[in-house]
Amino acid sequence: SPWRATVLTLFPEMFPGPLGVSLAGRALASGLWQIEARDIRASATDRHRSVDDTPAGGGPGMVLRADVLAAAIDAAGIGPERPRLLMSPRGRPLTQARVVELARGPGPLIVCGRFEGVDQRVIDARGLEEVSIGDYVLSGGEIAAMALIDACVRLLPGVMGKEASGTEESFSDGLLEYPQYTRPQLFEGVPIPAILTSGDHAKVAAWRRAESEALTAARRPDLWEKAANRGSGQKTPKN
Ligand code: ADE
Repeated sequence: SPWRATVLTLFPEMFPGPLGVSLAGRALASGLWQIEARDIRASATDRHRSVDDTPAGGGPGMVLRADVLAAAIDAAGIGPERPRLLMSPRGRPLTQARVVELARGPGPLIVCGRFEGVDQRVIDARGLEEVSIGDYVLSGGEIAAMALIDACVRLLPGVMGKEASGTEESFSDGLLEYPQYTRPQLFEGVPIPAILTSGDHAKVAAWRRAESEALTAARRPDLWEKAANRGSGQKTPKN
């Protein structure tokens, strides 16, 4: 059975959304992966179908109820082999390494938080792994879930031609991508760097490596420090 994302959300109509077009959308139509969006509200039990309530101890906003979310998770019938994620700005930052693991497995359950948060007891009782896609706050987990799913889907067998599948090598070697150019040869008076049209493949590779290192040092000192510790004999580019 194909890789599957099971998404628990209060807004199932958001899916597949942008995952229904382009690379992911073509792969979805081809049966290379599946998406199942399930409405958390379908597990509400009271007359008003309420899914949230005010935070214990006071404070702003609303909290997703533990009983309703637990029932929604249980109703999804997720086996123990599937990771159970909760999209949250409090989560561990998503990395390409985690994306690779998730893409290799059967596909995750993804809970999309809303409101000010989710009752901690359901996070603990159902073993939810909190995942963040960055240090900024979205209005809900749905767009974060789409980002995670997109990152996984492009790695699935048959989704990308073999050409682009090495694109992660740049990230898995811990450096940012080097700059790219294509025609026209002259754009607003600026030529393509001469090395790239020289036909000297060794020089091209060395130039790209140096550009990657300079970009990484300038923009991402966190990545540059790790790359320098991994690699033997790396020099610090001056910018
Ligand atoms: N929900 C709201 N903000 C988020 C973020 N940055 N990452 C994951 N889920 C979120």
